[in-house]
Amino acid sequence: MTQKPSRVAHHREPERWGSKIGIILAVAGSAIGLGNFLRFPVQAAQNGGGAFMIPYFVALLLLGIPLALVEWTIGRFGGAHGHNTAAGAFGSMWRWRGAKYLGLLGVFGPWVIFLYYIYVESWTLAYGYFSITGLLNDAHDQAGLVAFLRSFQGLLPSGVFRDIGAAYFFFLVTFGVNLLVLAGGIRRGIELVSKIFLPLLFLFAVILVIRVFWLGAPHEMHPEWNVIEGLGYLWNPNFSVLGNSRVWLAAAGQILFTLSVGIGAIVTYASYLKRDEDVTLSSLTAVGMNEFAEVILGGCLIIPAAFAFFGPHQMTEIAKGGAFNLGFVTMPLVFGSLPLGNLFGCLWFLLLFLAGITSSISLAQPVIAFFQNVFGFKRNKAVGIFGILSFLLAQPAIWWLGYGVVDEMDFWAGTVCLVIFALLEVILFGWVFGMEHGWRQIHHAAQIKLHSVFKTVIRYVTPAYLLFVLGFWLYDNAKTTILMAGLDPANRPYVMGTRWMLIGLFLILALSMRWALKHRKPHEA
Ligand code: PHE
Repeated sequence: MTQKPSRVAHHREPERWGSKIGIILAVAGSAIGLGNFLRFPVQAAQNGGGAFMIPYFVALLLLGIPLALVEWTIGRFGGAHGHNTAAGAFGSMWRWRGAKYLGLLGVFGPWVIFLYYIYVESWTLAYGYFSITGLLNDAHDQAGLVAFLRSFQGLLPSGVFRDIGAAYFFFLVTFGVNLLVLAGGIRRGIELVSKIFLPLLFLFAVILVIRVFWLGAPHEMHPEWNVIEGLGYLWNPNFSVLGNSRVWLAAAGQILFTLSVGIGAIVTYASYLKRDEDVTLSSLTAVGMNEFAEVILGGCLIIPAAFAFFGPHQMTEIAKGGAFNLGFVTMPLVFGSLPLGNLFGCLWFLLLFLAGITSSISLAQPVIAFFQNVFGFKRNKAVGIFGILSFLLAQPAIWWLGYGVVDEMDFWAGTVCLVIFALLEVILFGWVFGMEHGWRQIHHAAQIKLHSVFKTVIRYVTPAYLLFVLGFWLYDNAKTTILMAGLDPANRPYVMGTRWMLIGLFLILALSMRWALKHRKPHEA
């Protein structure tokens, strides 16, 4: 029998996860990233340690868990209607024509984060290499390692590195690895890698935590600088700063970022679920794994190590000096002084690299799904186009790091967009889609029944909380940030350029979607 050459390209079997543990590990892999091991300790140290953990857990309960439930549910719903992005899912939940364009934030946001996230991820690979080869040992103190980092990033006219060549090389390798995984698709790329990297990452982290605990009190002169006191710094509650709204904002931002919620990444991952697969227990399991990796493992590494070596005062100073200083400066210094230090240093950066990859692929997949859904591209073509565009768009972050380009992208995508998208999706879910309907959707094929208090939380508390976060931010610093007050004048053109790039990117996404909707059969998008 001859088969008609098929014109069924559009009806090919949709991609699906291979197993339940596969998607849980993929989502946990997305959540567990540089945010857990680098961002969390810095946020905690900048916001007074024990003062941070109370708003942190409140945000976990009132924002993180409800948003995770909502995103998994929206994603599975969209997937059942043939949509793999938040743009498509929003469109299928809300008839209003503009809904898709709001949902587009769930493609734009992850893409922008991806553009700088992989650059930082590539530093971890580079530093793993510098650790094992002993290159980092040449820098003996804080200042030496700061200079090393700046020279590597091309921010010093002289230094260990003559130019940005080494950084660029590691960027290319990291970029290539990401594309390779993505080209493997959902099951044989993302799921496979998550199943291998996540257990490995936990193993590395546990080894490092044991090593850090072993440090005890490294300074004879300061017996009070020890690991236990370091843990106390993070865990002894400090109620006095609870009146400070910045701490609440920082905690809310950290919860969204670390759980990968409020940006569309999980909507995309959950869209590859089958219609009759559970989302309640699975989403809570993934949240639990992330929290274990963050507060237990992440909380037992940088903070206690830096506390024992440098004491509380210097540790907070280092944290204020730069978002990456604790990870790239302090940790090599700590490990450098230990026997087998190069090995532990390498393990630390390898841990970060593995954590980074499983997150960056989740930032890329919404964009790839967008190309597949909206333009009907096959996977390889979608990955190829994503690769070319991302490569070009990532250049400013690399070359103009010193002019604040990465900070600007992180601010708009990693902070503002996160809160806005989270607000949109939770309002869409609780108010437009309807809470009764939404509650039934959450529990469709559910393996556990949630307490009905979550219904109230999703409908009222989470949106109100997010509104407060947004409102306070607008009131407190939107004006100075948007008007670039206090910014080094030399940076202004670069910061403005970055803003135009972001606006342009969003417009191109929106216009191309509009164009595709007009010119293609309305089966997708
Ligand atoms: N959650 C990741 C981290 O902690 C970052 C991330 C944010 C990934 C948003 C996907 C979406 O590093």
